[in-house]
Amino acid sequence: MTDDTTTSFFDQVGGHDTFQRLIEAFYRGVAEDEVLRPMYPEEDLGPAADRLRLFLEQYWGGPSTYGETRGHPRLRMRHIPFHVNPDARDRWLSHMRTAMDEVQLSPLHDATMWDYFTRAAHAMVNTFEQTPTTNIGPSAGSREAGSLGGLVPKD
Ligand code: HEM
Repeated sequence: MTDDTTTSFFDQVGGHDTFQRLIEAFYRGVAEDEVLRPMYPEEDLGPAADRLRLFLEQYWGGPSTYGETRGHPRLRMRHIPFHVNPDARDRWLSHMRTAMDEVQLSPLHDATMWDYFTRAAHAMVNTFEQTPTTNIGPSAGSREAGSLGGLVPKD
């Protein structure tokens, strides 16, 4: 029998398999998100998924592989290069909520993890400026009138 006072949260929720399923479900959402997807530098989301999973496994008492490969998390600092405004935060949280619903932890474990995610995500916000879009800014000038698909009269 498992004694919940001595096992880690990581073990209690099912260990590596549970975190793997959580992160897979989360990145399925990110892959479809028009605001979040462009933030991820790599073509393949796999390496980013591994970093988040290893971090969470370590945070919840599993293996310390994240620290051995990435060093101190310093998460807020690592997010500075990205445009994390309240919209991005809410999208991140919404994909995580969907992923957590899929994984179905016990109510207590779910509440504990969700509380952590909401607090961490709020702490990651580093700008209140709107998400830049590809339709405004310097790149807009390079678009040819013809690309507006016939909406602009020819003469
Ligand atoms: C609030 C919205 C958030 C956004 C938009 C966001 C976005 C990003 C992006 C674009 C990256 C770079 C991807 C990569 O190459 O690893 C990243 C990395 C990472 N994020 Fe977030 N993130 C958010 C919140 C969080 C939260 C709440 C956590 C933790 C609970 C977290 C943990 C991480 C970790 C561990 C990394 C990898 C750090 C490293 O070792 O380089 N993020 N995030």
